Amino acid sequence: MSRLHASRPLLPLLFLCLLSSACRARASGPSPSAVALPLSKDDATQQYVAEFRQRTPLVPVKVVVGLSGATLWVDCEAGYASTTYRRVPCGSKPCRLLRSAACATSCDGAPSPSCVNDTCGGFPENAVTRVSTGGNVLTDALALPTTFPPPGPLAAAPAFLFTCGATFLTRGLAAGATGMASLSRARFALPTQLAAAFRFPRRKFALCLPSTSGAPGVAVFGDAPYTFQLGMVLPNTSLLYTPLLVNPVSTAGVSTRGDKSDEYFVGVTGIRVNGRAVSLNATLLAIDRKGMGGTKISAVAPYTVLESSIYKAVTDAFAAETAMIPRVAPVAPFTLCYDESKVGATRAGAAVPTIELVLGSEATSWVVFGANSMVEAKGGALCLGVVDGGQTPRTSVVIGGHMIEDNLLEFDLEASRLGFSSSLLFRQTTCSNFHLG
Ligand SMILES: *[C@@H]1O[C@H](CO)[C@@H](O)[C@H](O)[C@H]1NC(C)=O
Ligand SMILES: *[C@@H]1O[C@H](CO)[C@@H](O)[C@H](O)[C@H]1NC(C)=O
Ligand SMILES: *[C@@H]1O[C@H](CO)[C@@H](O)[C@H](O)[C@H]1NC(C)=O
Repeated sequence: MSRLHASRPLLPLLFLCLLSSACRARASGPSPSAVALPLSKDDATQQYVAEFRQRTPLVPVKVVVGLSGATLWVDCEAGYASTTYRRVPCGSKPCRLLRSAACATSCDGAPSPSCVNDTCGGFPENAVTRVSTGGNVLTDALALPTTFPPPGPLAAAPAFLFTCGATFLTRGLAAGATGMASLSRARFALPTQLAAAFRFPRRKFALCLPSTSGAPGVAVFGDAPYTFQLGMVLPNTSLLYTPLLVNPVSTAGVSTRGDKSDEYFVGVTGIRVNGRAVSLNATLLAIDRKGMGGTKISAVAPYTVLESSIYKAVTDAFAAETAMIPRVAPVAPFTLCYDESKVGATRAGAAVPTIELVLGSEATSWVVFGANSMVEAKGGALCLGVVDGGQTPRTSVVIGGHMIEDNLLEFDLEASRLGFSSSLLFRQTTCSNFHLG
């Protein structure tokens, strides 16, 4: 029952809020300057699972995090119980702002989150399986810790907008996850909606993914110093910044013509291995008029996915730079594997050539070290952790979870730029050591 303790002080606050409609949209009481969403790595699926509290009374809810999607969605069919859920009416302002929304007109059954009249309808998507469905758009109380690691005081948003998913839509998600939280740039995804609910001065969040299931990482919304245990502070001046690009064509499963993508693209203009430029088809690195090509960041792709010609060029270059390290048979889905016992170690993982993603002008590059490029596979193999995305993928380079673990990424939606730290291991810390509050 210890989990109920943290929620108890919130109940009077929520109750008062219900009496005042002005309070619905925003949290009452002192606004926190930042809130945390703890993220655990699931070993079986390599997904990152977030836990927060929702409903009245508040209950813990686990969802897989993604950097795409219009809203948070949760399974409303399996035991959703709450006294504070409300429908978002068809034609209301939030419904119009959702753009790709439909209208669920009537339901004859007993009222429940899945059965409401005249309600805005959204299209929740399982970003792992790419399956979408239709579902009611509702609001309900949602609470997040104001400290990391938890527990600590919670901050509650009394009317947080989300979409009802269905039980079948959770197939393919980590065990225990009943939906997905979108950290995309969309109006009702977590970053912008939390900024509105808690009146954060800037729409921005920091993402710090854990590399093991042993200890969680975190996403921090709002304004907080990047502090780690033992007092290590990562000043934002130590981050490198690159513009976040908008793909003009939606990458979602269901979209309206003219919708832009809500995902985060960056302007990779070249790739270097061990400091040497790899020869690539530059057309593939740019986003074309149809929204094809370019580079995006994904939290649901476990490994970086490269279009076939880029994949071949990068793996060939990497193989040439590592000719002296004994190779072993490939372990799928990888093709370039080494005898781990013959590879040296550094503070930031295996001693292998760096891979650099050159961003925009040559001046900024994201340097990837062994901890983020190499994957321990079975039988003592250590493999280059990139996979072949085929010849006509929608996006040419998808930077996957493994490549950004134990890196701090700052998504500043206001300035439309991405700040990145490179490996925190060089600073003798990890995402699990993040400290908020
Ligand atoms: C929806 O409206 C109809 C007609 O007014 C009513 O019979 C039904 O009970 C309502 N459904 C819900 C879930 O409130
Ligand atoms: C760093 O953060 C401070 C305080 O939030 C802000 O004023 C400054 O503009 C930031 N600098 C950069 C380079 O982002
Ligand atoms: C580069 O990629 C574009 C887009 O796929 C393709 O049309 C073009 O033929 C490629 N160029 C070369 C030299 O392979």
